[in-house]
Amino acid sequence: MEIDRVAVVGMGTMGRQIGIVSARAGYPTAMVDVSPEQVDRGSKSIESWLDGQVKKGKTGPETREAILSRITASTDFDSALERADLIIEAVPEDIALKREVFRRMDQSSPDRTILASNTSTLWITELAAATRRPDKCIGTHFLIPAALTPLVEVVRGVETSDQTVQEVTDFLDKCGKETVTVADSPGFVINRLYLPLVNEAFLALDAGLAGPEDIDRSCTRGLGFPLGPLAAADAFGLDILLACMETFHREMGEKYRPAPKLVKLVKAGRLGRKTGKGVYDYTV
Ligand SMILES: NC(=O)c1ccc[n+]([C@@H]2O[C@H](COP(=O)([O-])OP(=O)(O)OC[C@H]3O[C@@H](n4cnc5c(N)ncnc54)[C@H](O)[C@@H]3O)[C@@H](O)[C@H]2O)c1
Repeated sequence: MEIDRVAVVGMGTMGRQIGIVSARAGYPTAMVDVSPEQVDRGSKSIESWLDGQVKKGKTGPETREAILSRITASTDFDSALERADLIIEAVPEDIALKREVFRRMDQSSPDRTILASNTSTLWITELAAATRRPDKCIGTHFLIPAALTPLVEVVRGVETSDQTVQEVTDFLDKCGKETVTVADSPGFVINRLYLPLVNEAFLALDAGLAGPEDIDRSCTRGLGFPLGPLAAADAFGLDILLACMETFHREMGEKYRPAPKLVKLVKAGRLGRKTGKGVYDYTV
């Protein structure tokens, strides 16, 4: 099956950018969120991201218009999903919520439709089990910022078919993304390697080893990271990072316990850039 139309469920940090990737590659892209405010915020954020690309000379104004003309955004699930060949889910990192969303995607879309999740750490196999088509369920783990990062991790669940992997890899290729295909396991490969390091940066901060800027600078200037781990955590959203570490801790043991400092910041509502404050204060 050729993928002609795409839907994205969830218009938060990742969904917005995934919508841009898909529409930029020429696919009519129907975006949907439960929250009307997020539909509005997400649509504005897509426009302003494209404005930034035009200002930097990376996209022409006609291309901006063409991308926007391919995107629709609403809270109407059925009309967003009923014609999609590929649906990419990007709702919060909560297994019960994602299973419910997968059930809904399964009910509202044609039998041929591929159901993909952008989960960072949860089992694709467990999401697939909530549907009647586990062979058509797959992980497409886009990294932040999805419109710019070159690579997407493609995750095979236990029952994902070769055909599904091929069709999704072809779609991502048309989106200009490289892929790496990995087996299903908490955190796959990238987050299995990276998130414990980010968690460790919170432990180092709490232990007073250095201030946040110096911890981040050690990684950017010393190790060549594009962004320090604490600044990156603020960009992911500390709530999302905590949910990921909780999955690791539950599935893989004590060594992955979330750092107390991370837990405290989330309890205080300091979720990072999206709330204006996280490790750093973005309001000043
Ligand atoms: N933030 C990152 O850096 C990052 C990177 C890679 C992967 N991910 C993964 O992507 C997924 C989304 O993360 P995010 O950072 O975009 O989250 P987010 O909190 O920014 O956005 C989630 C969106 O989902 C919407 N939503 C909640 N319940 C819904 C439902 N039932 N139906 C439709 N929409 C619903 C919310 O209103 C919100 O707009 C998570 O699984 C996360 O682990 C995040």
